[in-house]
Amino acid sequence: MDRRNFIFNSISLAAGSLGLSMYLSACGTQKQVQASNKSGLITLPLQSFKNEKGEYREMVSVNAEGVPYVIFVFRKTESEFTALKGMCTHNACDLNPVQTGLDCPCHGSRFNKEGTVLNGPASKNLTRYFTSVSGNDLLINLNKVIP
Ligand code: FES
Repeated sequence: MDRRNFIFNSISLAAGSLGLSMYLSACGTQKQVQASNKSGLITLPLQSFKNEKGEYREMVSVNAEGVPYVIFVFRKTESEFTALKGMCTHNACDLNPVQTGLDCPCHGSRFNKEGTVLNGPASKNLTRYFTSVSGNDLLINLNKVIP
């Protein structure tokens, strides 16, 4: 291996490690939850956002009955949440959570935690659903999209 290849390989290895650690870091603050779905109204206990130590998670990924994609819910404050359809707007691949938001493994599109496109080829932002807090639950309305 010549010097040039050694440097390239070292940089690639470091970048891969960084990406993995960023992904794992993002995973450490999220949880997968099963949720009920009544005519497009998803009900999720707010308790889902707390970890075993009682600390808040930044994000929960929701698998809802009859919904063929994951809904990623980011907690901004006690009453403010962003619920995003976990499907890439470029070609419908499932998205992965990362430190900065959501990444698409298919062609590299990246979205922030509000669903805004950071990098193409996707040109449309993610679908955002209306959310509201009712008692101890977070309600996600799949029939009401935020423009
Ligand atoms: S399907 Fe996501 S970037 Fe192509």
